[in-house]
Amino acid sequence: ILLLIISWLTPKITSLPPESQVLDRSSFPDDFVFGTAISAFQSEGATSEGGKSPTIWDYFSHTFPERTNMQNADVAVDFYHRYKDDIKLIEELNVDAFRFSISWARLIPSGKVKDGVNKEGVQFYKALIDELIANGIQPSVTLYHWDHPQALEDEYGGFLNPQIIVCFENFGDKVKMWTTINEPYVISVAGYDTGIKAVGRCSKWVNSRCQAGDSAIEPYIVSHHLLLSHAAAVQEFRNCIKTLQDGKIGIVISPWWLEPYDSTSSADKEAVERGLPLELEWHLNPVIYGDYPETMKKHVGNRLPAFTPEQSKMLINSSDFIGVNYYSIHFTAHLPHIDPTRPRFRTDHHFEKKLINRSNHETGPGDDRGKIHSHPEGLRRVLNYIKDKYNNPIVYVKENGIDHYDDGTKSRETILKDTFRISYHQDHLKQVHKAIIEDGCDVRGYYVWSLFDNFEWEHGYNSRFGMYYVDFKNNLQRYPKDSVNWFKKFLSRPVVRS
Ligand code: NOJ
Repeated sequence: ILLLIISWLTPKITSLPPESQVLDRSSFPDDFVFGTAISAFQSEGATSEGGKSPTIWDYFSHTFPERTNMQNADVAVDFYHRYKDDIKLIEELNVDAFRFSISWARLIPSGKVKDGVNKEGVQFYKALIDELIANGIQPSVTLYHWDHPQALEDEYGGFLNPQIIVCFENFGDKVKMWTTINEPYVISVAGYDTGIKAVGRCSKWVNSRCQAGDSAIEPYIVSHHLLLSHAAAVQEFRNCIKTLQDGKIGIVISPWWLEPYDSTSSADKEAVERGLPLELEWHLNPVIYGDYPETMKKHVGNRLPAFTPEQSKMLINSSDFIGVNYYSIHFTAHLPHIDPTRPRFRTDHHFEKKLINRSNHETGPGDDRGKIHSHPEGLRRVLNYIKDKYNNPIVYVKENGIDHYDDGTKSRETILKDTFRISYHQDHLKQVHKAIIEDGCDVRGYYVWSLFDNFEWEHGYNSRFGMYYVDFKNNLQRYPKDSVNWFKKFLSRPVVRS
């Protein structure tokens, strides 16, 4: 009878409105993966040690320091030397998995496999993977998190050249979770339209500090090559690596949810309809159906490259799962005036993203910078959009997080009290839970960005995303913020007594 009551009650308990529930690990499916994440360039440091060559971000931050807040990642968080101690910090969080990226420049310094693989690089990642596994943490490896060797840029023009191929080897017997390209949208749009991130190219009327580029064409070319390199890596993975183990591989997109800037304006609503396919379909449609979405073809015309039938075949179903990095939403307005002599990515689609109304969305120190505002419902909408459009594929939330803009005036003690970060994660986890339980989305995991404060690209070290505080002025000492204790408790498993 007791069993009957329990089995009768259980589904009711999990389907209670999530607002009234205090969630913890046990609210999620048993095999749901909880993790945290970093990337190589943002954390490793040791930039010219162990046979590593300079990457496009080393070049960008050293050549144009004013574009990375006068900072660089030569030392970063020194994860390269301190990874063993850092793995203890990861273990303390009670997470199942740790996502990191492999630095191409550390593994294949010239960028080309035929020039040889750097043994020290292989050794470093082997040791890191072994240490994680020995501590009961599953490695989740990103093949490309924005830092390819500068040599490839100098010699070939990087992702503007069709020869570029992402390559991986050596770790396939132990790593079961792989992702190919991290955030292709950001690479193409921030690197080749707005020019705010490496390689910093764009049309001169977009940003006068840019390297000469063409904002109307290059983002599309670069994404095209990123997608082809994704397909090539997946083919390689499926041909060789998969025989070694039961691994999975997927791409990671970075959708911001869009809402009309003026909710009463039909022009703004249409702008959202044009914008969402860019956020969600530009890089998903090809890896699922082998082609770009029709809306993009219509707006971009013959500047959008086309896949050959063979390429399309290689791309179809080339992602075992969809990785989603979700941070927030944008309010989106119709862009009415288009000067045909000044084309760029955004004007192709006649939309503009605007900052959300601060007074309605004040959530914490993230607002100091205006980048991350907490908008958790957007995550549920993103998950449902993917479910509806692509027949409910497996999804992992590979990044979710909020930063604290540290202008140097706040004490460490103040920054350690990150209540806003705890609320942010609680609220987003509630939406993931709703998406699974109420909407039937097949979400299998959630990774917090980031394990510790690190080099936040154009913002340098001032934008702190970590659960652990890093004292950049004092020997890079790590300190747990309050979110560490919250996450640790959220993930703790009840002690089973025999
Ligand atoms: C996404 C990127 O993958 C990561 O490198 C970055 O630090 C976070 N967003 C926060 O901006």
